[in-house]
Amino acid sequence: MLIRHRLNSRIFFRFLIWWIFFSCFSGLISSAVVTLDSIEIFNKHEWILNPTVYFVCKGENRTVLPDVTKTGFVYSFKGEESWQPLTKLESKKCKRCGFYEKDTIKSDDVYDEWEFCASDFKASDGKYILFKEKELNVTFRCPECTTLPAVASNTAPKKNDDVDRMHVAVVILISVLISTVTIIALVVAYKCWQKKKRQQDQARFLKLFEEGDEIEDELGLDNVI
Ligand SMILES: *[C@@H]1O[C@H](CO)[C@@H](O)[C@H](O)[C@H]1NC(C)=O
Ligand SMILES: *[C@@H]1O[C@H](CO)[C@@H](O)[C@H](O)[C@H]1NC(C)=O
Repeated sequence: MLIRHRLNSRIFFRFLIWWIFFSCFSGLISSAVVTLDSIEIFNKHEWILNPTVYFVCKGENRTVLPDVTKTGFVYSFKGEESWQPLTKLESKKCKRCGFYEKDTIKSDDVYDEWEFCASDFKASDGKYILFKEKELNVTFRCPECTTLPAVASNTAPKKNDDVDRMHVAVVILISVLISTVTIIALVVAYKCWQKKKRQQDQARFLKLFEEGDEIEDELGLDNVI
């Protein structure tokens, strides 16, 4: 009975730990991967050589787009290229990003520089089109962006965030309480069981002594049979 109880508790514990892990984890996932779907440049600043176009967000590494060299041509990507994904976006923080062309003499030329936000992506297809006249037309893809907590409910993102954090705190608190109570209950139950068993053993031992002769007789009989 007790063994089964302990086994049940162990399964329950494992479940509890996973549950805590997942509830915390789902609350913490707040960034989504952005890939480049297509790009078309209308202009190049470098006249002699092929242009080197790159994308960069402030504080991150630049991503050179090795194939993009011609103007007026739509380059489409699968999203699995070696240089993908372009970047990651967080639910409630925009990034300053841009497309540039490397310049051998002057500082690099700017195609466009803008605030890149997860909320830019439309829920219907997870795409965002950046268009700047005479410069470029870019399509980004980020299906996860539309499901980020704050974006999915961008009517009151701040409040929701607080609620989320409180939710996680409450879950952790309740889990800790349940774990503590369960551990205490288990220890008490085990101690009780040990005590009871010891008493039973003692009783049996005493009984053995008292009825020693009778048992000996019985044993003798048994041996004969
Ligand atoms: C940027 O590039 C450097 C060197 O290639 C690498 O060590 C670093 O991890 C990269 N940083 C990010 C944020 O990708
Ligand atoms: C920009 O590119 C997208 C995808 O290739 C296309 O659907 C859209 O019509 C283009 N927009 C302009 C203004 O060229």
